[in-house]
Amino acid sequence: MAKAVVAITGASGAQYAVRLVRALLDANWEIDLIVTNAGAINLKLECSITPEELANIEGVTLHDNKNLAARPASGSAKFDAYIICPTSGTTIGKIAAGISDNLATRSALVALKEGRKLILVPRETPFATVHLEAMAKMSSWGVIILPASPGFYHNPTSIEELIDFVVARILDQLDIEHKLGKRWDGTEINR
Ligand SMILES: Cc1cc2nc3c(=O)[nH]c(=O)nc-3n(C[C@H](O)[C@H](O)[C@H](O)COP(=O)(O)O)c2cc1C
Repeated sequence: MAKAVVAITGASGAQYAVRLVRALLDANWEIDLIVTNAGAINLKLECSITPEELANIEGVTLHDNKNLAARPASGSAKFDAYIICPTSGTTIGKIAAGISDNLATRSALVALKEGRKLILVPRETPFATVHLEAMAKMSSWGVIILPASPGFYHNPTSIEELIDFVVARILDQLDIEHKLGKRWDGTEINR
């Protein structure tokens, strides 16, 4: 069974994380979940749930972000992917600087040192130069920078479709088959 570390940090966009957790479970992935304090604020604000409520489902293990002895903190615990969704500017800056002061940032540094897949889903607008430079640096290290920027070319009519668009791109990066949204087939312009 494939395993992912999913961290929710304090950027807006907690709905993406909730959808991602469900989609990974649907694909039979196991999830080690980390939620930062600011991540929990946004989860409550935007989804009306607590980290404990999100984790209250088989296949999800919730870790205390302060517990640097938890499983995702060690490279010897093998995970197939590490996803930070959404990723705050603070967490972007820390990872790019090699700072691992909590479990969310530590697990990202584990992914880097072990050469494992790390996907960051930043949400900020406009971006500060410091964060753009940090993301460019991490991209050159092989980190997938996957902004929460849904496309509109399929004429979405609901928030769910916009959320699915971004989550679909994350699943694509993980080679997970899914039915979230339509794929571009090249005939749309002529319809
Ligand atoms: C309601 C709320 C919304 C926020 N939205 C964003 C955001 O969209 N992007 C961002 O980078 N930071 C955002 N922040 C700021 C981060 O939460 C803040 O930088 C925090 O230190 C992030 O810490 P963390 O990465 O450990 O979660 C927001 C904060 C709050 C309280």
